[in-house]
Order: sequence, then structure tokens, then C-alpha cells
Amino acid sequence: MKVEFMPRGDQPGTRKTYKEVIKSDAVPAPDWLIADSIPDLGSDPVPATNYTSPEIYQKEIEKVWLKCWQMACREEEIPNVGDYHVYEICGYSLLITRSASDEIKALYNVCLHRGRKLETSDGCKRRFRCAYHGWEWNTDGTFRHNPWGWDFPQCKPEDLTLPQAKVGRWGGFIFITLDQDAPPLEAVLKPIPEYFKDYHFEDRYIALHVAKKYPANWKAAAEAFMESHHSITTHPQFLPWLADVASGYDVFTDYTSRQLTAMAIPSSFIDSSSFTQTEIFNQMMQSNGRLGYDEIVEVPEGMTARSYAAREQRKSLTAEDGYDYTNCSDAEMLDPMLYNVFPNMSFWAGYTPNITYRWRPDGVDSSIMDIYILKRVPKGAPRPRPAPVHWLNDDQPFTSAPELGALGGVFDQDMANLPFVQQGLKMMGKDIPVQFGLYTEMRLRRLHQTLKEHLER
Ligand SMILES: [Fe+2]
Repeated sequence: MKVEFMPRGDQPGTRKTYKEVIKSDAVPAPDWLIADSIPDLGSDPVPATNYTSPEIYQKEIEKVWLKCWQMACREEEIPNVGDYHVYEICGYSLLITRSASDEIKALYNVCLHRGRKLETSDGCKRRFRCAYHGWEWNTDGTFRHNPWGWDFPQCKPEDLTLPQAKVGRWGGFIFITLDQDAPPLEAVLKPIPEYFKDYHFEDRYIALHVAKKYPANWKAAAEAFMESHHSITTHPQFLPWLADVASGYDVFTDYTSRQLTAMAIPSSFIDSSSFTQTEIFNQMMQSNGRLGYDEIVEVPEGMTARSYAAREQRKSLTAEDGYDYTNCSDAEMLDPMLYNVFPNMSFWAGYTPNITYRWRPDGVDSSIMDIYILKRVPKGAPRPRPAPVHWLNDDQPFTSAPELGALGGVFDQDMANLPFVQQGLKMMGKDIPVQFGLYTEMRLRRLHQTLKEHLER
């Protein structure tokens, strides 16, 4: 049955859509942020078994995780020659290695003698030496030494170079793919590098990195961060200052999409006249977790909470990093603007410290979420050392990571749904499919469509 597709950024008969808001902001948004990219992706339900079937999961490993580009780490995590990062995905382990000042390799982390993993944690080495029998490789993957070389006449050093994944780089991120025939990274990221160029991601550093495992399929986890209308029930504290239902959604390609939500504007689920602009501003500053103010301040007469928040954010950001944000739009100073890249990455745009998410499968019913916050290196200052990953145990909530501030509670709210989602999806099984909203959940629908295309290849 073909149903009418009605793209809209708000409930019928209520206030402004996101794109209308940012067009009329005190400092309006650039055209590319306002432009719509809203394909009609149909209305077909998605099988619940996409999230629960061990067979589909095995196929995903083969057709997605061994094929697609994925973000492995940031360049500043391996700044010096010999630095390496161990990146793991579905049982595969790679050494993301800086083998020369501007050369990065992604080497199979395995001894070609009897298969022992060469390295188990990040570090800096002149060579990789297997802890089992001492075979050695150079950091560019070429073979170096075998203490019992005389007994291996069949192994020519030139045939013992470590197998390698392909490496791509953008914005200070290092991406890998295990598929030598994968499309170029640039084609997969499109249009993100163009849209992000003024945010200078290459000049940012990891200010925070928290990781945690939780009991849900990687897609169920990613989808908890791909629409904003779960706020009404999951994050009710957002409603006075987040225009959740008015969010804008765009799908650009098979791989990329975005969602945009206005800060400092109440949700249309509540009566906005019950809040003054000062109340909106202060509630936002105390509970959003990304912009921050401790003291209560008055929004000046004649200003909206939104224009005031953008102005204050420009000032505080300039005080922090020394750059001038005078002409940067209100939207790019304030709003959550989440760009996703298939299969498992989400990059927040804008000038304010940027959240980045990555979801990795860890079995069909389990996944790992990485949360990063990237900040710009202050003008003229040396690059700060990246924050090391802070792993939380299964029983530790995000609020136990003090560096997350108010965001910790927000992530705990999101995660609280996930075990119950996974359990419910299992119950739905083959008989009951999952339904997506035609507009507000268009990004989730595209994820499953791209997944299906990959699985059928
Ligand atoms: Fe959420």
C-alpha cells in the first residue's frame, strides 16, 4: 500500500519547523543548513529479526563490518612515529600505526607464524615483536626478523609483510576498511567534509572519551540517537528548551543523513507561554550538558533565550579557544546537529565542542558505544594530549564518569531503554515487524535500507 509522504518538521497546526527557526535567527544559518534533502523512502516495516537474528548478524560481519569504512581512532592518538592504536571490530584486530610522520598503516594484528595477536594495547614501538616466539615486524608491516629463520626456508621475508586494511583520513579522524575494493572514503562521507570545513575538525582534540558495553544490538543502540522525539518520555527535562518535535531530518545519500534540533525553544508538547525567556535559558544551561552555566542569569529585555544563548556561547568559546565567532550562526553555536555515516558513526557539527558517537557490535545482543567530545586546540597553544578512553563496567552508569557532567544522566536515560528494546525485539521475532515514522524516523529507515543492500550483495 502506498501512503502519502508528508515531510514536516512539526505536528500539524503548531509552531515553526527547525528550518524556519534558523532562517530567522539573529545570525541566520548558512544555506546548506537550511536546504532540505528529504527523499520518499517508503513506508515498509522492518523485520524485528534484523536486530536479533544470529544469521543476520553473521552476514553483517561478512557484508558490513569486513566491507565498510569505519572510524578507528583520531590522529592525535598516534602523534609520533611508532605510535599505534589497537582497533577491534567483530574479532578482527588492527594496529593503526604511524609508520612515518605522514604515513598511517592499518596492519593485521597477528603473527604470521602461529597466529598470536602481536599487541593487546596501545603504545609506541620501533617494531612489533610476537610475545610467543619472537618473530618481528617493522611498523610499516614489513617483516624484520625470525630468531629461528634457518628452520623456515619456505617463508621468504618478502612474503611475510603483514596484511593491511585500507586507511582513509578526514578531519583528524582515521578510518579503515578491510575491503580493498571499497568505494573511496570521500564518496562515503559526502557531503560532510564540505559542510564541516569551517569547524576545523583537524584542529580539534579528544577532550573526553567514555566507552561502555550494553545489552542491545548495535542498530538498536545507534537508533536511540537518530531522532529527537524520544525526548518527550526519555528526557522530559529537555522539553522547556528543546524544540524536539520540530526537528529537521535530511537523508543525503545511502550513507549519510542528519538531524537538526533547535535549542532554547520549548517543545510544542508543552505550553511555551508558561516559561519566561530567562527560565528557558537557565533550565537549558543547567541540564543540557554541552553548554554550561552555573549561575542563574537574566536574559536581557528584548532578547530571546536563543539569541542570548548564542551570543553568550560566542563569548565563552572565544574566551576558551581565542577564535572569533562573531559571524557564526546561532544554529552552529547552539544546536545539536547530528550527521550520521553508515554503518555506525555520528559526528555532531557546529563550533561548540562536538560530540562524536561510534557503535560497534559485540555479538548480536550486545554492543559498545564510544562517546567523544572534541574541542578546538586553543589559538597558538600546543595541541593538548587526547583524553584516554574511560571504560565503564557493566554496572557503572554514565553518571559515574564525572567528565560527562550533566550529559552522564542523559546517556543513562537513553541506555535505560535499550535492554528492554532488545528483549521486546526478540519477542516480536518473525511475526511482528518494527514500524518507523515516515519523516521523523527516515534516518533509521535509510540505515535498514542500506544494510539490506549490503547484505544482498
Ligand atoms: Fe536521547
